[in-house]
Amino acid sequence: MSTQETLGFSGGASAAGGHLAQAGVDLSHGPILYLEDISVSFDGFLALNKLNLTVDAGELRCIIGPNGAGKTTMMDVVTGKTRPTSGSAFFGQSIDLTRLSEAQIADGGIGRKFQKPTVFENHTVFENLELAMKMDKGVWASLRARLTGEQGDRIGMMLEKIQLREQAGRQAGTLSHGQKQWLEIGMLLMQEPRLLLLDEPVAGMTDEETERTAELFLGLAGERSVVVVEHDMEFIARIAAVVTVMHEGSVLAEGPLHRVRNDERVIEVYLGR
Ligand SMILES: Nc1ncnc2c1ncn2[C@@H]1O[C@H](COP(=O)(O)OP(=O)(O)OP(=O)(O)O)[C@@H](O)[C@H]1O
Ligand SMILES: [Mg+2]
Repeated sequence: MSTQETLGFSGGASAAGGHLAQAGVDLSHGPILYLEDISVSFDGFLALNKLNLTVDAGELRCIIGPNGAGKTTMMDVVTGKTRPTSGSAFFGQSIDLTRLSEAQIADGGIGRKFQKPTVFENHTVFENLELAMKMDKGVWASLRARLTGEQGDRIGMMLEKIQLREQAGRQAGTLSHGQKQWLEIGMLLMQEPRLLLLDEPVAGMTDEETERTAELFLGLAGERSVVVVEHDMEFIARIAAVVTVMHEGSVLAEGPLHRVRNDERVIEVYLGR
């Protein structure tokens, strides 16, 4: 989990420069994430096969592709869960992700959300955000420590952003599936990641929840870099500027949605006719 020491607490785009300096992420040449020729072999099976992917700072990128294309494996490589068999992976200009542990990568500013929501069900929505902000101190110490005014304001702003202000005092376990997803996204954002990786965030959401999630993500663009893996094409159409299509461990196509959507190879392997 991220610590106060590495990331600091002031929020918003204006503080981004200071955070980057503190976290040591050099973005002077643009990309926040740079994967080159990444391969991952599971007993000879290439889950990733010379994958090349570049994501710019502040970008909201969508990754699509058929089941088994390697989308989740790509996130596993970026977060240090899986080591690539070959290739290079950089966070900013100079942080070599292949040399860091999962904990170091999380502390360094890469947040990740798995498909299933993981919140503290027996704590309130407010407490969940509070815990996320102070995770390094342990659950009980964190809940006992008094909030500073600034910390309270940050939680208030996050409740607004994830549209859970009215549910602040409710036990997280009683929230709808969609609300739990937002809470978890809020918890990740409390850690102020530079890069956020989200694996199928709208799976299982109602249409209305999906629409609100699109608004939430659009509001993050520019402030943070976000990589979203999704199968929901309507959702992608709503949020994506650039879409990367993965297939058999590599990039099959990349560009604006209207272009990749009409790409014969993409229609063939993924979208169907
Ligand atoms: N730990 C592992 N050991 C062996 N094979 C694995 C492992 N993890 C993933 N694979 C295989 O690698 C391939 C890519 O899997 P991955 O989960 O990255 O696909 P995906 O694009 O996320 O698919 P989905 O859309 O279904 O989530 C699959 O064939 C999968 O079975
Ligand atoms: Mg997956």
